[in-house]
Amino acid sequence: MILGIESTAHTFGVGVVDNEKVLANVKDSYTTKKGGIIPMEAAEHHEKVAEQVYRKALGEAEIEEKEIEAIAISNAPGLAPCLLVGLKFAKKLAARLGKPVIPVNHCIAHLEIGRMTGARDPVLLYASGANTQIIAYASGNYRIFGETLDIGTGNLIDTFARYAGIGFPGGPKIQELAKKSSAKDYIELPYSVKGMDVGFSGILTKLRYLLEKEKLEDLCFSLQETAFAMLIEAAERALAHTGKKELLLGGGVACNERLQEMCKIMCEERGARFYVPENSLLVDNAGMIAFLGEIMWKAGIFTKVENIGNLDINPRERTDDIEVRWK
Ligand code: ATP
Ligand code: FE2
Repeated sequence: MILGIESTAHTFGVGVVDNEKVLANVKDSYTTKKGGIIPMEAAEHHEKVAEQVYRKALGEAEIEEKEIEAIAISNAPGLAPCLLVGLKFAKKLAARLGKPVIPVNHCIAHLEIGRMTGARDPVLLYASGANTQIIAYASGNYRIFGETLDIGTGNLIDTFARYAGIGFPGGPKIQELAKKSSAKDYIELPYSVKGMDVGFSGILTKLRYLLEKEKLEDLCFSLQETAFAMLIEAAERALAHTGKKELLLGGGVACNERLQEMCKIMCEERGARFYVPENSLLVDNAGMIAFLGEIMWKAGIFTKVENIGNLDINPRERTDDIEVRWK
């Protein structure tokens, strides 16, 4: 029975996993009606809801505290004030229960949860708020074959949403607005793919400029069509380059129905299989932290309770920094 805690950015969550089954996945997210995310405010939010989310997760999993074997915490990467709240909560709980702590990299948790879909050796298109990477596993590491050269896909979406005054997170709102537009109203935006790398800042600059001149739904539609086509081109190149036959989508932006549809079409056209976890496991959540926590726990990767004082946050840890000792 592994407890997982997520606290890297906008979401505070607690999940419980037993034998690769998610028994509970409770979360409470910081949102705004107009502006973007303010790290200190998000951290205050997490502090306020932590205990209640924890109790709710125990209830959902129908377990008692003493059944918890170890506590997985996403201590990297993310916003420092938010990471600190989660780590403090995890350490206090571990000390009280006398249980070990498993430090989990948040991005790798987004990837590993994809195992639940049945994907075995995929190319991963990981598109979230801060990150956009095309990743595949090769001898001991997740290798980054391509990535954004400036901002993450989610940041593009959320920053545009902030300019447009429609609040945070912008993804779900932009998806709905885009449905009101269509191909005949497509507005050309800067398309920037270099090999397997992508860049979104040109799109953002142009969208900001067009905000006063064009209909919001046409801008949302054009943003999705352009940015997602770039991701698909880079992912297809990675499939060709690695010779792999599976594409797995991950991260919060992967909830987008149009992105999923475009992935499906590309995979069908080149005879690859397409996998995507359910939405509740795509956005930031603690189910995925507990899930990877259990895998690491079984591989003997954890910090004993007497040593948890040494555990720290790592706001800038990269996906390819991690030695994948559990495969
Ligand atoms: P990271 O994993 O890089 O630290 P994060 O933790 O902020 O980033 P996630 O919760 O994985 O990210 O993803 C959040 C992002 O997903 C936000 O930018 C949000 O706008 C976007 N998103 C959520 N739903 C949708 C959707 N339906 N369409 C497009 N984007 C979406
Ligand atoms: Fe995330």
